Amino acid sequence: MSQERSDTLVLFGATGDLAHKKIFPALYQMVAKGTLTEPVIGVAFDAWDLKQLQARARDGVVNALGKIDEEVFAKFASLLRYVSGDYRDGATFEKLKNALGTAQRPLHYMAVPPTMFETVVQGLEQSGTAQGARLMVEKPFGHDLQSARWLNRVLHLVFDEQSIFRIDHYLGKEAIQNLLYFRFANSFLEPIWNRNFVESVQITMAEDFGIEGRGRFYDDVGCIRDVIENHLLNILLLLAMEPPVGRSADDLIDEKVQVLRAIRTLTKDDVVRGQFTGYLAEPGVAPNSPVETFAAVRFMVDTWRWQDVPFFIRAGKNMPVHVTEVVVRLKRPPLDVFDPIKPADQNYVRFRIDPQVVIAIGAQRKAPGDDMIGEQVELTALDDSKGDMPPYERLIGDAMNGNGQLFTRQDASELAWRIVGPVLGDTTPPHLYEPGTWGPADVMAGFGPPNGWIDPVK
Ligand code: BG6
Repeated sequence: MSQERSDTLVLFGATGDLAHKKIFPALYQMVAKGTLTEPVIGVAFDAWDLKQLQARARDGVVNALGKIDEEVFAKFASLLRYVSGDYRDGATFEKLKNALGTAQRPLHYMAVPPTMFETVVQGLEQSGTAQGARLMVEKPFGHDLQSARWLNRVLHLVFDEQSIFRIDHYLGKEAIQNLLYFRFANSFLEPIWNRNFVESVQITMAEDFGIEGRGRFYDDVGCIRDVIENHLLNILLLLAMEPPVGRSADDLIDEKVQVLRAIRTLTKDDVVRGQFTGYLAEPGVAPNSPVETFAAVRFMVDTWRWQDVPFFIRAGKNMPVHVTEVVVRLKRPPLDVFDPIKPADQNYVRFRIDPQVVIAIGAQRKAPGDDMIGEQVELTALDDSKGDMPPYERLIGDAMNGNGQLFTRQDASELAWRIVGPVLGDTTPPHLYEPGTWGPADVMAGFGPPNGWIDPVK
């Protein structure tokens, strides 16, 4: 597959929720910046006309951004086309073929439920519209190792690996880019970034809201599949990987895959599962559902660099705050020369991923006064802007350009499922927790990094 830019974007699922909430606003922003000038063909089942799709796109932009520049939107609307039809019907793909006209290298974006992936890919193949094309695939990519393997086989019957872009929108976040940059553009971190200095790593993704009407989806998935197996495990990989030997997508992904290969397969003892009280009353949730809305997981990375350093991930709905944060805690100094350093005051490096981009180093200094008593300070780099490019904008642009660096490669997708496999689908009732708390307190008291969790504050 050449590195030439795609000449048309085809959006399957154009009338859906994701297109409305994330994709249209991203495309609009791209048009505003001049980074999208190619036609965008929406495809969906609904018997709409182009005007309706444009109105829907407009609504999505206004909802997401709170304002709209009419001139920019007019430009965006002029790029839009619409093809309506059933994905199981060959005629839909013939219409798409017509709409594609002379396009040579379309990017087909499957923003549809995974149950439709195979049907769409087959329709593309049979109509000849897969020829020379790229394919972007939304999450969830599989349900477990077996289904991910099967899905990969289905996609590979039509597209080669270089042409497939599996999305994890977390990888498109500004803070994630920065994590990689901060690690590998500085030399002071490297000597301490290993088992000799690092005591533990903790990654917390807290959301202060519930499942927001997505009961049917969520109850089929649960917290581990929803955000741990993909978004948060990806953060762990960026923290644990070796420096890539070059700048290509494969150079970076090869190093992530090495870490995935070294992560121990989980056992039940590595996991605490919780469910917020009230979950069972959510629409779409099965009576007595054993699905977790909170999980804390211990990962061990069996490499020379990380042997015996626990990596903890916890994530949950209805937590006290809405923050995603990493804390890499360093070991205590070998000796207390002054006052004893409390566990909470150990040195650390903190990366806030959301809602702001923060990198901070926790250190001790002498508190002002006569005594040699310490106080904790933080050396902080804060970027409140979150960068200028939301994840979907970055990822669609990259896929259009054939840059796979921020996407999940086949081997990585399967290895991640291998790691979490044994703890999926647990039907024992999860531990209950009250909304607005940090998960099931009793069990969590005995589960976490040495010297405890650090709860992020807003
Ligand atoms: C999605 C999950 O992938 O990521 C959601 O399905 C979660 O449950 C969301 O809320 C979080 O992403 P962001 O970028 O909104 O923090």
